[in-house]
Amino acid sequence: LSLWEAYSQKVHDRMNNPAHRGSFTDKDAKAQNCKLVVADFGDASCGDSIQLFWLVDPRTDLIKDARFLSFGCGTAIASADIMAELTIGRTVDAAAQITNLDVEKALRDDPDTPAFPGQKMHCSVMAYDVIKRAVAKHKNIDINELEDQEMVC
Ligand code: FES
Ligand code: FES
Repeated sequence: LSLWEAYSQKVHDRMNNPAHRGSFTDKDAKAQNCKLVVADFGDASCGDSIQLFWLVDPRTDLIKDARFLSFGCGTAIASADIMAELTIGRTVDAAAQITNLDVEKALRDDPDTPAFPGQKMHCSVMAYDVIKRAVAKHKNIDINELEDQEMVC
């Protein structure tokens, strides 16, 4: 397997052309009668970081739209992009159940072939972590109060 072939086409496509990269402002939230939720996660040891923006409908708790910004590698960008997509249309509680393995699986071209090499799994953990931070922020609770989902790293 060449280095390039170790990544799925979906990872290639999403890192080069993410569908959900960007941010939302308070104004965007107001225009949609939504609450703006912004969460940040950074790995201090390597300097990679990710920011997640949700527009949450306060009546239903549904995530109406999601965007992200990332200073991370291509795998982190592809993971953040699919993570944002997976959260759209879910309730905040349902989004809290998404793990980095769900993110990795959603990036597979073929169900039995990993989307990226194992040593890149930690890049998808940022996507999982920032969801948890967004959920905690939305609920106004400490992140440690959230139940940990099973993670693969
Ligand atoms: Fe920082 Fe992968 S090197 S998360
Ligand atoms: Fe740092 Fe992928 S986010 S190596």
